[in-house]
Amino acid sequence: PAVTLIGVPTDIGAGHRGARLGPEALRVAGLPEALEARGVDVRDLGNLDGPRNPWTAPVQGYRHLDEVVAWNHALMEASYAELQAGRMPIMLGGDHCLGIGSITAVARWCREQGKDLRVLWLDAHSDFNTSDVTPSGNIHGMPVACLCGLGPDALTKLGGTSPAIKPSQMHQIGIRSVDPEEKRLIKTHKVDVYDMRYIDENGMKRTVEAALAGIDENTHLHVSFDVDFLDPSIAPGVGTTVPGGVNYREAQLVMEMIADSGRMGSLDIVELNPLLDNHNSTAELAVDLVESLFGKSTLMRD
Ligand code: ARG
Ligand code: MN
Ligand code: MN
Ligand code: MN
Repeated sequence: PAVTLIGVPTDIGAGHRGARLGPEALRVAGLPEALEARGVDVRDLGNLDGPRNPWTAPVQGYRHLDEVVAWNHALMEASYAELQAGRMPIMLGGDHCLGIGSITAVARWCREQGKDLRVLWLDAHSDFNTSDVTPSGNIHGMPVACLCGLGPDALTKLGGTSPAIKPSQMHQIGIRSVDPEEKRLIKTHKVDVYDMRYIDENGMKRTVEAALAGIDENTHLHVSFDVDFLDPSIAPGVGTTVPGGVNYREAQLVMEMIADSGRMGSLDIVELNPLLDNHNSTAELAVDLVESLFGKSTLMRD
């Protein structure tokens, strides 16, 4: 396989600053070398450029909307170009607002290629807020709603047409923090959510089987991995930790099952904030999990 790393050094959509350092933290933790060791042809595009974080208050329910649009526009173009070149883009975030540009590009490419896009959203949060209901104005809490057509035109129509995806294409795992009005929206739009209660009751194996049910050779799987999916005890380097998250073995199993599916075509790694971390341990864990996404396994059977 051939992958291209695209650094998106921004915390423009977050309520903490520091996720802008995520791409370097992942490189320092050895992400390119780990992929190469898996036999992957790795190209590192370096970091995209975009507006600085003005660190201002929300305006009409959005913080930094113009800057979020600029970053996502740049990412959409870069990611689409890599897909066109036959390479798998890996987005090194950066906060989760970048899922808008990333997935808009993937959705357009899949439409053109006649492929069925399915998004696996690994996160503590549903990220389905709108400007009317957001408790924070932070746009990293809104990318899923924007992709489903709820949000400002500048984001919902980033790729020209809206919506970029249908809610039925979105499958979320690890969810445990959803704002009250956001919960109502998720239910209205029927997003497929496997929350922590579901995982507790059914185990991670059955959870991933359910989220991947029905995929075939024509499926393009986009994995959007928000590091706060993981329990904060193993992944402290993120601005929006929520207790009761996915543990190390469960996380490895998700990644190995995605690898076994053979269908992953693009990946976001987001919300890593090395300023909040303990000696870059969260970035190192993310690299460890990405190795599993690319087929590293402790399995003895074939
Ligand atoms: N629901 C909260 C909000 O909208 C938190 C969102 C956190 N999102 C994230 N990608 N970490 O402000
Ligand atoms: Mn999150
Ligand atoms: Mn579905
Ligand atoms: Mn998120």
